[in-house]
Amino acid sequence: MRGLKIALIPGDGIGRDVTAETVKVLKAIERRFGAGLQLESLPWSADHYLQTGVTLPPDGYDQLRQFDAVFIGALGDPRVPDNRHARDILLGTRFELDLYVNYRPIRLLDGRLCPLKGRTPADVNFTVFRENTEGLYVNIGGRFKAGTEDEVAIQEEVNTWKGVHRIVRHAFGFARARGLKRICMADKSNAMTSGHALWQRVFRDVSAEYPDIAATHYYIDALAMYLVLDPGQFDVIVTNNLFGDIITDLGAALQGGLGMAASGNLHPGRTSMFEPVHGSAPKLAGRNIANPIGAIASAALMLDTLGLTDEAAAIDDAVLAAVRANEVTQDIGGNLGTREAGDAIVKWLK
Ligand SMILES: NC(=O)c1ccc[n+]([C@@H]2O[C@H](COP(=O)([O-])OP(=O)(O)OC[C@H]3O[C@@H](n4cnc5c(N)ncnc54)[C@H](O)[C@@H]3O)[C@@H](O)[C@H]2O)c1
Repeated sequence: MRGLKIALIPGDGIGRDVTAETVKVLKAIERRFGAGLQLESLPWSADHYLQTGVTLPPDGYDQLRQFDAVFIGALGDPRVPDNRHARDILLGTRFELDLYVNYRPIRLLDGRLCPLKGRTPADVNFTVFRENTEGLYVNIGGRFKAGTEDEVAIQEEVNTWKGVHRIVRHAFGFARARGLKRICMADKSNAMTSGHALWQRVFRDVSAEYPDIAATHYYIDALAMYLVLDPGQFDVIVTNNLFGDIITDLGAALQGGLGMAASGNLHPGRTSMFEPVHGSAPKLAGRNIANPIGAIASAALMLDTLGLTDEAAAIDDAVLAAVRANEVTQDIGGNLGTREAGDAIVKWLK
């Protein structure tokens, strides 16, 4: 291995439980494939914030830029009701490091995990690219006469040519690199006639450069329906921040639940961040219950993105073997604890 520096932010709640298992797997990978992965833990969390009053240090984002990649467990703690620390650490990192690609592979590992009857892994195997830096999440807006019956609440959606173009181009580039032939863009251009007209134009223009890839479009409401009725028709989906947020949870459900879902927040060529899709599930925290697969699969995405494709494939294969052997946690029908499920994946690593 080539001495890659990885920052680990276990964070809060089950984020710590699943990060511990991820570290176990990364250390096993290091032993099998050669030394060199440098893992460095950062304490940024609700505990840290409550003790110090600091969510992350003033040079926090610069610190993160010194790493090849960042891994986050989960953030969120009922003792910080406004979630300030999570906003700074998680959303702040997405915006400050300009991680414009939210990368969400949705892959069903075993038919028994899918809530749709009769579906097999061949039916649920697609990737969602969610625009990650603009849309409705830029926090532009305000409230006028708040708390009265005259209240006006405005939340603006920002779509820029640059922002839409780079995510759409990334999705097409991914499809071509993987030999995938179908890409679907989802918007609500029938109702959101300004912002989403831009998505229409950019998608049409970029798709013209990729005649080998069938480009289709659904309104987001229709896409939600088709993801349930016929998920097998999708290879790659590209959409905006809000719609991507929603349909990737639907995708997680198709994979077997939040505990299974992995993600990357990418700026190709720069420091990127990887995290399981689930939150800190405070009620499960520290109880050896949480499913570590979403976190471990996120670490596989991280290694793959860093060019360690054999190592990433070894993790994916081990996760698949553990799922097939039902050596998994209770949320997906096994009877193992978090630590034992992590051990099982290490055992299956080839
Ligand atoms: N990316 C993040 O860090 C992130 C994402 C979502 C929510 N949050 C935060 O997490 C906290 C809890 O939020 P929530 O309850 O809405 O969402 P959550 O994902 O933490 O939990 C929702 C439910 O999903 C199940 N679940 C989630 N992860 C699981 C796992 N690994 N194994 C087994 N079951 C699992 C549990 O039943 C849990 O009660 C909040 O503070 C929220 O803001 C953080």
